[in-house]
Amino acid sequence: MTDVSPDRGAAGGQHHPLTGDLTEEDRATITRNSSVYVYEAPVRLWHWINAAAILVLCVTGYLIGRPLPSVEMSEATHQFVFGYIRFAHFAAAMIMTVGFFGRIYWSFVGNHHSRQMFKLPLLNRHWWAEVWDEARWYMFLNKRPKKYVGHNPLAQVAMFFFMTVGMTFMIVTGFAIYAEAEGAGSLLETVLGPLRDLVGGSQTMHQIHRLGMWAIVIFMIIHIYAAIREDIMSRQTMVSTMISGTRTFKDDDPD
Ligand code: HEM
Ligand code: HEM
Repeated sequence: MTDVSPDRGAAGGQHHPLTGDLTEEDRATITRNSSVYVYEAPVRLWHWINAAAILVLCVTGYLIGRPLPSVEMSEATHQFVFGYIRFAHFAAAMIMTVGFFGRIYWSFVGNHHSRQMFKLPLLNRHWWAEVWDEARWYMFLNKRPKKYVGHNPLAQVAMFFFMTVGMTFMIVTGFAIYAEAEGAGSLLETVLGPLRDLVGGSQTMHQIHRLGMWAIVIFMIIHIYAAIREDIMSRQTMVSTMISGTRTFKDDDPD
């Protein structure tokens, strides 16, 4: 029997399996150029605004949970420190929420990389193999990383759970606490009040909202470490890609 593998091209050369969310179109581009336009302007703008909002939310959120000692610097009327901290938290919360809806909209109209953060190809065995491969690379067990045009599969898993699910969680729990101050009869309280009762009341909702913060802090630490590490050690650019939108490859090996 002749071995006719669908992976072999007409010329008889080995066709490498697709990595990450690479399409044939992407492959054609990287064999012509060493740079590919990956993250469109709205994605990049959202990334940095969202990162800034989350930073403000973590710092002010921490201070809401563990307030600074009250020091009387002036007459109470002129001193509004905790009020400003809460205001900053709520302002950043609104920015993050509107931004997240905008980002969801962009996943429908943007390029295929803009959809990666919202879906995991769980039934694709090749994708799982790449998640494992990337994990091995992070654990210093693989000598050579793979090339990815969009997010690598491990980053995709982290972004899905910590950001897509994580931000939804923070928005829902945050607004469920916020609803209480809006008061009975308000739209927010009508929609989210029952959820607060379901988890066991305001105190529990505060607690799970705070727990969510620690999950996001863990993501931030790993994410920034990985972005900088990959910028140095991988075969492609990272940080500049989230600034200019363009990914540049350091070698032109076809795999
Ligand atoms: C990444 C996003 C966010 C983080 C890290 C975060 C973090 C926190 C933390 C740590 C607390 C203190 C909880 C406690 O110990 O009692 C808090 C309180 C609160 N957060 Fe957030 N939060 C986020 C998003 C939001 C959003 C989207 C809203 C929606 C309006 C929101 C509304 C609130 C409210 C109403 C409180 C209670 C304020 C108070 O009791 O004075 N948060 N947040
Ligand atoms: C609070 C801080 C941050 C958060 C919450 C955050 C979140 C995210 C998210 C959700 C994505 C996916 C973007 C998308 O598909 O739309 C992403 C990608 C990325 N972020 Fe961040 N980010 C933060 C800070 C940073 C910082 C400080 C850097 C640079 C050192 C950075 C570098 C990158 C890079 C390079 C990518 C693209 C990775 C890739 O191409 O696979 N991020 N970030």
